[in-house]
Parts: sequence; C-alpha cells; structure tokens
Amino acid sequence: MSKPKIGLACFFLFCGFLVVAHAAPPAKGNSCVQCHSKLPLSSFYGVKSHSWVGSVHEQHGVTCNECHGGNPKAETKELAHTGMLPSANPHSPVYFKNIPATCGKCHGAEFYNFSRSLHYKILESTGKGPTCVTCHGSMVTRVLTPGQLVDVCASCHNQRMAIAPYVPQKAKAVLLLLRESRALLAADRQLYASPKCAGAAQTLNQAEVSLQAAKLNWHKFDLNAITNHLEKFHDVLKNLPPASSCR
Ligand code: HEC
Ligand code: HEC
Ligand code: HEC
Ligand code: HEC
Ligand code: HEC
Repeated sequence: MSKPKIGLACFFLFCGFLVVAHAAPPAKGNSCVQCHSKLPLSSFYGVKSHSWVGSVHEQHGVTCNECHGGNPKAETKELAHTGMLPSANPHSPVYFKNIPATCGKCHGAEFYNFSRSLHYKILESTGKGPTCVTCHGSMVTRVLTPGQLVDVCASCHNQRMAIAPYVPQKAKAVLLLLRESRALLAADRQLYASPKCAGAAQTLNQAEVSLQAAKLNWHKFDLNAITNHLEKFHDVLKNLPPASSCR
C-alpha cells in the first residue's frame, strides 16, 4: 500500500473527532464567558479572557471550559472554578506539555501527526520544543501565513541558538508551495468541472490524496516529506488532458 493511501485513511479516521467537535453548544448560558466578559481590560485576566472573543473558537462555540475545565453551569466564581487548575500546574490541561492532547481532543489529525514529530519528543523530554499555542496562540487561535511563519520558527531556529537555523526560510518556501498547490487544485476542479471532462476526476482525486498527505505531514514538520508529496501531486496533474478538450 502506498504511503498517501495510509495518510488519507488516517485523515478520514480522525475527521470523525472534528465532526463531533462541531456540535459544541453556543456560548449562551456559559457562566465562564458571561462572567469573564465583564472583567476589566486593565487586568491580566481581563486581557486574556477578552482575547478569545472574535476567535474561530468563539464562532464555533468552543468555550473556556473546553480547554480549561471547570463547571460552566455554576454561577459563582468558586463553584465554576472547581477542579480547574492554573496553567503553571503540571496537571492542568493547559500546562504547556499537556496542550497538544487538550487541543487534540478536537484536532485529532494534527495531534496524531504532531505526536510523531521531533518537536513533540523534545517538548516531552526537555520542554524546549514548541507546543500548539507557540504557533497558533492559545485564545486568538490563528493560522500562520508563510510570512508570519518565519518569525515564529526563528524564535528558536536562529544562528544564536544554533537549532537548525536553515529552517525558517525553508519552511516558508514549503508552506508557500503547499498553499499554491491547494489553490491550483481548486482552480483545476473548476476548469475541469464540465461533464465532458468526467475523465479528469480520477486524476484530480489522485492529486488530492498527495495534497492531503503533504498537509498531514506539516504537523510532523518533516519538510522533505512534504516536498516529496507535493512533487508527486504536481506529477499526477501532468496526466490531465488539455483543458481545451473539454469544451
Ligand atoms: C462569577 C465570575 C466567574 C466565573 C463564573 C468564572 N470565572 Fe474564571 N475568573 C474570575 C476572576 C475574577 C478571575 C481572576 C482571578 C481570581 O480572582 O481568582 C478568574 C480567573 C480565571 C482563570 C485564571 C486562573 C489562574 O489562576 O491563572 C481561568 C483560567 C479562568 N478563570 C477560567 C474560567 C472558566 C473555564 C470558567 C467556567 C468554567 C470560569 N473561569 C468561570 C471570575 C469568574
Ligand atoms: C482552545 C483552548 C482555549 C480556550 C477555548 C480558552 N483558553 Fe484560556 N488558555 C488556553 C491555554 C492553552 C492557556 C495557557 C497559557 C498560554 O500559553 O497562553 C490559556 C491561558 C488562559 C489564562 C491565563 C492564566 C493561565 O492559567 O495561564 C486565562 C485567564 C484564560 N486562559 C482564560 C480563558 C477564558 C476566560 C476563556 C473563555 C472566554 C478561555 N481562556 C478560553 C487555552 C484556551
Ligand atoms: C472542543 C473542541 C476544540 C478544542 C479543545 C480546540 N479546538 Fe481548535 N477548533 C475547533 C473547531 C470546531 C474549529 C473550527 C472548525 C475548524 O476549523 O475545523 C477550530 C479551529 C481551529 C483552528 C483553525 C483556525 C482558522 O482560522 O481556520 C486552529 C488553528 C485551532 N482550532 C487550534 C486549536 C488549538 C491550538 C487548540 C488548543 C489550545 C484547540 N484548537 C482546541 C474545536 C476545538
Ligand atoms: C511549529 C508551528 C506549529 C505547531 C507547533 C503546530 N502548528 Fe498547527 N499549523 C501551523 C501552520 C503554519 C499551519 C498552516 C498550514 C497550512 O496552511 O496548511 C497550521 C495549521 C493548523 C490547523 C488548520 C488546518 C486547516 O485545515 O487549515 C489546525 C487546526 C492546527 N494547525 C492545529 C494544531 C494543533 C492542535 C497543534 C498541536 C498538537 C498544532 N497545530 C501545532 C503551525 C504549527
Ligand atoms: C520553541 C522552540 C521551537 C520553535 C518555535 C520551532 N522549533 Fe523546530 N525545533 C526545535 C528544536 C529544539 C529542534 C531539535 C533540533 C535538534 O535537536 O536537532 C527542532 C527541530 C526542527 C526540525 C528538524 C531539523 C533537523 O535538521 O533535524 C524542523 C524541520 C523544524 N524544527 C521545523 C520547525 C518549523 C517549520 C517551525 C516554525 C513553524 C519550528 N520548527 C519552530 C524547536 C523549535
């Protein structure tokens, strides 16, 4: 069995987790959100709490308790915080080493691949590897663009710290290629949408398998594996008939 097929199987397997996550309840009636939204912005806790507002997680009903624990039905601070631990406590779900598993409850595919990365091994052993929030932020969860990526990677991968300083520029090039490939596939899907081009569908689906494999390898941070999958992707697309033959 070829590697891309295994990759795709994992992708579908873990997709199930995400579908469950989508059914999360809205923030209405959630005491964490209600009380914390009233905390003054002049305080550390206020700033932290408000940064969640407007995030993708807020839009999808992923409330504070999903990551921090506690009881979102209780009205008072003491009762709501029962069982909740500050992030500095090694037993807290938001303790830096526990963050991948906490996010992984819903982002199974990313967690699965991340847990097989060198970064994860280093995070577990010395604590010096990045964790999900190093790149995504904890509450203002963002997806890095190739430009933003350079600075984040370079916070560890630089000449001074001498941790593979070639990484930021290479990662930027690889992420650009990944994004361009995704855009190319979307464009080709439109170009070959005509029923006269039905024969192209198989090629496009085959290309998508390589693209998914590349995407999944991203969280393993194996830049060469990603590049290899993307090369395969572009090779497969060479089998497309000329678009003019579909008109
Ligand atoms: C009635 C108000 C109220 C409710 C309800 C409430 N909080 Fe808080 N929370 C606070 C205040 C005020 C603080 C600031 C620190 C303090 O006073 O203990 C705080 C602090 C925190 C902290 C920082 C703790 C630390 O020690 O670093 C977290 C995390 C937190 N709350 C999460 C939650 C979650 C999750 C829920 C819901 C399950 C929740 N809060 C419900 C008022 C509330
Ligand atoms: C997607 C997961 C996630 C959600 C949702 C989330 N947080 Fe956090 N939060 C974290 C993580 C992880 C940290 C750990 C510190 C860091 O790296 O920023 C954190 C840190 C904090 C802190 C700083 C104190 C500490 O213990 O470090 C406060 C206060 C806080 N969150 C409150 C909230 C409140 C209030 C909400 C809802 C309005 C919320 N969080 C929603 C993941 C989340
Ligand atoms: C309770 C489920 C849940 C947890 C826990 C959770 N997320 Fe999410 N997350 C979602 C959902 C739902 C979405 C929106 C749909 C999607 O993009 O799949 C999302 C979206 C995202 C996105 C995409 C943002 C974008 O702009 O497209 C990132 C990145 C992300 N989460 C990172 C994290 C990180 C980091 C953590 C842990 C600190 C975390 N998530 C914890 C459910 C969760
Ligand atoms: C070293 C940086 C880094 C770390 C650590 C990291 N990510 Fe990412 N993540 C990225 C980048 C960059 C992208 C954008 C890749 C792309 O465009 O396909 C991304 C994309 C994502 C997405 C969006 C996928 C989509 O379909 O658009 C999610 C969700 C996500 N990461 C979750 C996580 C989780 C959960 C963890 C921890 C287990 C994690 N990430 C660790 C850098 C990181
Ligand atoms: C919190 C620090 C930290 C951040 C941020 C970070 N890394 Fe790393 N990374 C490490 C450490 C530590 C190693 C292990 C270096 C070693 O032992 O050879 C490593 C190793 C790697 C390797 C393997 C290098 C090799 O030659 O074997 C790659 C690839 C990599 N990181 C990619 C990235 C990318 C891409 C980003 C940004 C999206 C990133 N890293 C952000 C700490 C970090």
